[in-house]
Amino acid sequence: MLTIEIVAGADTTAISIRSAIYFCLKNPRVWQRLRDELSTAGLTKESCPISYKDSKAIPYLDAIVREALRMLPGVSLSLERYVPEGGFRFQTGEFVPQGAVVGVNPYLICRNKSVWGADAEEFRPERWLRDEEGAETEEAFSARLRKMNDADLSFGAGSRICIGKHMGLMQVYKVVATIATLYDVDLVDPKREWKVTNSWFPRQEGLEVRISRRP
Ligand code: HEM
Repeated sequence: MLTIEIVAGADTTAISIRSAIYFCLKNPRVWQRLRDELSTAGLTKESCPISYKDSKAIPYLDAIVREALRMLPGVSLSLERYVPEGGFRFQTGEFVPQGAVVGVNPYLICRNKSVWGADAEEFRPERWLRDEEGAETEEAFSARLRKMNDADLSFGAGSRICIGKHMGLMQVYKVVATIATLYDVDLVDPKREWKVTNSWFPRQEGLEVRISRRP
């Protein structure tokens, strides 16, 4: 049982931290805003390692983590389920018999333009926040957020949803907030894309950075 926790919790968490750092560094505007918001919240090198409570209180960090998980879910192949007794009929009429294996791929659904909009391929943490120009009402934002939450399978769904979700997220928040507070980090080659090989876990290669302690 312990081995299962390690297998399920190690790569997924590391992949999510790597994604958050990579996508932020590819979008320096986002990385800078994160650093500004950490500093405005009074978090300094003396606060490190930054606590889960403090990091979770920063909406922009939450938006970054959710967007990184959307861009590259820690599990990026179909989450399979057996169709229960009696089979299942879709609203569109198609029927799937009981016992059939069906699944939804979190990576693909996270790129569905009817949920995330025309810029679904872009890393834009702001999509998880209420429109800052104030053009979006609270009700409209709640409806949009509900739609995104319903389609977000980065931790799966239903009775087999990830049991380590909160532990995984705790690590991602703390590590990203602490790195951004303690270090200056730049991509060695900002133009180069990383390489991702999907084999259940999407394995990333090529995140090369220059890192130095902030004064
Ligand atoms: C950011 C980090 C993590 C991500 C993205 C992640 C993602 C997932 C996903 C997508 C599933 C499949 C859910 C489904 O089929 O509906 C899953 C299941 C699972 N996860 Fe995680 N996970 C993370 C961290 C962890 C951690 C830290 C642990 C344990 C300490 C853990 C333990 C498990 C276990 C035991 C299952 C199987 C649950 C079951 O089948 O009932 N996960 N995770």
